[in-house]
Formats: sequence, C-alpha cells, structure tokens
Amino acid sequence: MSTNESQSLIKTPKQLIIVGLLGILVPVLGAVMVAYFVVTSSKKPDSEHSSMAAEDMARRIKPVADVVIAEPDAGGAKAMKSGEEIYKTVCLACHGSGAAGAPKFGDKAAWSKLIAQGQKTMVANGMKGVRAMPPRGGAADLSDIEFERAVVYMANTAGGSFKEPALPKDKAAK
Ligand code: HEC
Repeated sequence: MSTNESQSLIKTPKQLIIVGLLGILVPVLGAVMVAYFVVTSSKKPDSEHSSMAAEDMARRIKPVADVVIAEPDAGGAKAMKSGEEIYKTVCLACHGSGAAGAPKFGDKAAWSKLIAQGQKTMVANGMKGVRAMPPRGGAADLSDIEFERAVVYMANTAGGSFKEPALPKDKAAK
C-alpha cells in the first residue's frame, strides 16, 4: 500500500490559499456579472422602443466625428506657430533678459534703431545671424514665416508697426 497517494487534490499550503481565494472570487465575479446583466438588459428595451435611438446613436458618435474633422486644422496650427509662441520658446532665452547684448523685449530704445532698418532687413539679418545673434535664433527648424512672425511680434511690442507675413499660397503649412 502506498502512503504517497493522497485522496485530496490540495497538497500544499499554497494550493490551499489559491483554492480559498477562488472560493471568494468566483461568487463575487458571479454576482458582478449578474448585476451587469440586469442593468444592461433593463436598459435595452428603452433604446429599442425609442424612436430616438438613431438620433441618440448619432449624438453619441458625434464627438468622434468632430475630432476627425478638426484634425487638419489642429495639425496646421501645430505646424505653424504664432510669433508669440516662438518668442517664448526660442527668442526669450536671449531677448527676454538682453543676454549677450540682445535688444531686450519691449525695450523701445534698443529696438527703435533696428526697427528703423525696416522689417525686411531685420528679418534678413536675424535669419542669417548678426554678431551674437545666431541664425534664426539658433532654431534652424523654424520656417521663414515663423521666424518673421517672431520678429514682428518682438518689434511691435517695442513700438514697431511691422506686418504679419502672409501665408504662401502653395504651401499652407510650413
Ligand atoms: C542666443 C541668443 C539669442 C537668441 C536665442 C535669439 N537672439 Fe536675436 N539677437 C541676439 C543678439 C545678441 C542680438 C544683437 C546682435 C547685435 O546686433 O549685436 C540679436 C538681434 C536680433 C535682431 C536684430 C537684427 C538686426 O537687424 O540687427 C532680431 C530681428 C532678432 N535678434 C530676432 C530674433 C528672433 C526672432 C529670435 C527667436 C526666433 C531670436 N532673435 C533669438 C541673440 C539672440
């Protein structure tokens, strides 16, 4: 007769714990499923009988459609930043404090001489760099229009009346 053979399936304390946990979890899950079924099945007749079902559905899927429609706009806005945004992310580093002799943001005396050169010259100088001013403020990924917008933003804050650059018709973004 073998003493190894046990009639119980539970042989170790670990198995006992697992069986104990399952004993709790299974009824709980069962109760949750029943509750879920009751809730969902009680809702169903409502929406089936309602003539609003289709409208309801349309309303529910609408936000998704809105997002899809809005995407090209959002992408365009993201691809092309405003002068203020570019100033804050790139130019502020030097022009905010006047570091390295940069004309300080809003300093009318410092900017007036530059503004007198005209928008075209100022943009051209900034794009190729002038003394301690790195080309495009060091942000080589800025498009011409984005850079010009930042120049216009800074110049106009310091009393200039530069014009926003027009968007090129052949390339709407960038
Ligand atoms: C690393 C520092 C630094 C950053 C970043 C920077 N600038 Fe400058 N910028 C300067 C300095 C210094 C000068 C003054 C150069 C000089 O005349 O000696 C200057 C001058 C200029 C001028 C005058 C050019 C002229 O006609 O003489 C413009 C326009 C200008 N910056 C635009 C910008 C714009 C737009 C940005 C952001 C996209 C920017 N800068 C970012 C340092 C910087």
